[in-house]
Amino acid sequence: MKKGSSVAVIGTQFGDEGKGKVVDLFSSSAKHIARAQGGNNAGHTIIAQGKEYKFHLIPSGILYPSTKCYIGGSVVVDPQALLTEMKTLQAQGVSLDRRLFLSSYAHLVFPYHKILDRLSEEKKGRSSIGTTGKGIGPCYVDKVNRSGIRIADLISSSFSDLLHDVLSRKNEEIKALYGHPPLEYSEILKDYLGYAKELVELAAPVEEMLYEANERRENILFEGAQGTFLDITFGTYPFVTSSCTLSGGVCSGLGLGPSHVGKVVGVTKAYMTRVGHGPLPTELSSSELALFPDHTTSREIGTTTGRKRRLGWFDAFLVRHAIRLNGVDTLAVMKLDILDDVDEILICTGYKHVSSFPTTIKELSSAVPIYERHPGWKSSTKDVKLYHDLPAQAKAYLRRIEELCKVPIGLISVGPEREKTIWLDRFFEESL
Ligand code: GDP
Ligand code: IMO
Ligand code: MG
Repeated sequence: MKKGSSVAVIGTQFGDEGKGKVVDLFSSSAKHIARAQGGNNAGHTIIAQGKEYKFHLIPSGILYPSTKCYIGGSVVVDPQALLTEMKTLQAQGVSLDRRLFLSSYAHLVFPYHKILDRLSEEKKGRSSIGTTGKGIGPCYVDKVNRSGIRIADLISSSFSDLLHDVLSRKNEEIKALYGHPPLEYSEILKDYLGYAKELVELAAPVEEMLYEANERRENILFEGAQGTFLDITFGTYPFVTSSCTLSGGVCSGLGLGPSHVGKVVGVTKAYMTRVGHGPLPTELSSSELALFPDHTTSREIGTTTGRKRRLGWFDAFLVRHAIRLNGVDTLAVMKLDILDDVDEILICTGYKHVSSFPTTIKELSSAVPIYERHPGWKSSTKDVKLYHDLPAQAKAYLRRIEELCKVPIGLISVGPEREKTIWLDRFFEESL
């Protein structure tokens, strides 16, 4: 096992690509799994041994009892949501004892962040982003504005003074901008002191622990949240989340150097989805939508907000851009089975009269996809275990994705369960 051969699992589209399933698969041979960014806006669903698990802040790798899981310094943590997630997992039989660690650098989400998220969306009206409403954007705003409160502050004796100071400014902001009544200091203080008692045990020098793990040549699996086109800089701004969702964010998010990230796995659906507002160039028309499996069958209902995801054809031009932005080494193609009954499947190879990926929403919203048409395979792939046994049309479709994206496909997923996976390249297991 080589030092620095850890793996980052990153979404190459608009989130919900199936990162959770991929992380769960690789966790069978990983010792450490770490989340670097985002918060409980993420929703990763796993089906293991017939049970369904939903993750928002805790890395999906926690299902394997021998792993250690970390929430990094650039994650924004809603303590109430974290404690609820912990209790739900414990009730499902997952032990978290000395296995879950929380960086003291992580910023906390407070009730005023959630209120500001909602009020700001309401005020934007038709130009709203369609956020998850979890207070993620306002929390990152405070962090960058140097008025955030971190885990280290929560568990220190100066927390009550700090909260008093910050809350009085926040109450002014909420009132002046939105005419919202002030939030009660004593209530928030009481709740957060309660959370502090429970969370203090998790607080740990995550940065040092991961560095030392790497020194011992124990590799780390980095669990991405959101997707490339929700990235704060390179996503479809302003319809993005507020963190760096790219592989580069793993280093700044966890306090590690670039040499710690050995390989980058880009997770992609065999088609596209997007939840929330903003352009989706290959979005299905209503007549195309009628030919697709419904949202419940395709599991295209958001884990975090219960919203139906918008659907589109596979956009190779966009995924290729994600491959460049993340330095993807290999692709994990998910949800091939959802296309099993579709007569004709389209792939977007580019946009008319566009050479570089568009920077503005205006350009992207008016982009006209250039499509290739592929015959569907019209048979079930759900029980296929080997690439060789896939229908010929499915193999041709995957080969074309590989060709257009210019990176190899390392695994294909044909169902939400662990075993519904076709491995093409065992490099992950070898390197972990
Ligand atoms: P993530 O946010 O990237 O982890 O993805 P989500 O968990 O939010 O969304 C993916 C959804 O598709 C979940 O409900 C998964 O259980 C499900 N899923 C993952 N891979 C497959 C697959 O290959 N086939 C099918 N049918 N469902 C899958
Ligand atoms: P996972 O990790 C899909 C979207 C929201 C909204 C935008 C901004 O499950 O892939 P935010 O609440 O972050 O300020 O919302 O980002 N969004 C996601 N979409 N998957 C996610 O996470 C997402 N996290 C945020 O729908 O459009
Ligand atoms: Mg999700």
